[in-house]
Amino acid sequence: MYNYYEKELQALYKTQRLRSRDIIDEDMVDFASNDYLGLAEDKKALKKTYKKLKRYKTHSPKASLLVNGYHPIHKKFEQKLCKLNNFEGGIVIGSGFLANIALIESLVRKKDLLFIDENYHASGVLATKLLPKEQVVFFKHNDPDDLFYKISTFGTDARILIAIEGIYSMDGDIAPKEIYHIANRFHALLIVDEAHSSGVIGENLLGWFDHFHLPIAKNHIKMGTLGKAYGSYGAYILASNHIIQFLENRAKSIIYTTAPSLFDIALAHENLKTIQKRKKKIKQKIDTMDQIVYEQLGVSSPSLIVPITINNNEKVMKIKQQLLEDGFIVGAIRQPTVKKAILRLILRTNNTNEQLQTICQKIKEYVHL
Ligand SMILES: Cc1ncc(COP(=O)(O)O)c(C=O)c1O
Repeated sequence: MYNYYEKELQALYKTQRLRSRDIIDEDMVDFASNDYLGLAEDKKALKKTYKKLKRYKTHSPKASLLVNGYHPIHKKFEQKLCKLNNFEGGIVIGSGFLANIALIESLVRKKDLLFIDENYHASGVLATKLLPKEQVVFFKHNDPDDLFYKISTFGTDARILIAIEGIYSMDGDIAPKEIYHIANRFHALLIVDEAHSSGVIGENLLGWFDHFHLPIAKNHIKMGTLGKAYGSYGAYILASNHIIQFLENRAKSIIYTTAPSLFDIALAHENLKTIQKRKKKIKQKIDTMDQIVYEQLGVSSPSLIVPITINNNEKVMKIKQQLLEDGFIVGAIRQPTVKKAILRLILRTNNTNEQLQTICQKIKEYVHL
């Protein structure tokens, strides 16, 4: 009875899909994490955050946002995000996972239809399981024609919601801007998960809307996470005041949970200021890194995620191990996260160009590109 899960675990082991959490030597050159801009190592921001928190009587959130957990640190960060991104309202939330649950579970009401990209993050897909099946339609990944066809076929009478990611987490590809126009044409609410695009693309490094210069209106919702380019932990949702008020009143993963960590929000706020201050330099560095990857591996990526298809679980794990022995860490991503095994190389901007060149050469050698 206590070995109830043994068979399933063995099946994962046999197919090289068994996962484990390991402590990775801090001295490894990190080409695996989502700390795109290296801010998770910025000790100046850490000190400033500590100093800021010390000024307040409480330094922990203590309660839900809706009881007395809402703090000036939360509010100031929300206001900063609204101003920069040109949204009316904003709310902080514990994580991107919780934000996707909040958006999809609470905003899709009876008789509404949700059209969601088939490659949307697992948290959003999980949230769709809380809805009646007939209210959820998956459209082909990054395919505006399929989206248009499916809306025209299933739902012009219903109220429509569309959910996409700005940059997709595994392939690093960008959502086409035609989806924005389709959303406007059908008066649909457009939810954009900007976990991997905020801080990485756009004239002001604000993400997908910024990248395409798309004006923000009341039907647009942006979700961003703090555990990636913003070098902290947590998330936020930006939308019209009306939608934010609705989330406050209906989203269970906002109401029935402790407010986000004050330290993490204050740290993200510091890091956001740093990104805005250094945006010119960061953008130059991103361009240089993209250029190196193009020259070395023949791959051009619109983001800082470079997927390298290996298509063999055993091989991808072996290459990851070889790279670890060389002092580099990259992601080896297998099913069910992706259909075919990939190496996921993250171009963290605080790695040197030489380190990037070296890892590209090693990958070429081990993969036989
Ligand atoms: C696209 C996307 N959305 C949401 C999440 C969840 O965010 P968080 O890690 O803050 O829970 C992730 C990954 O972590 C992600 O890649």
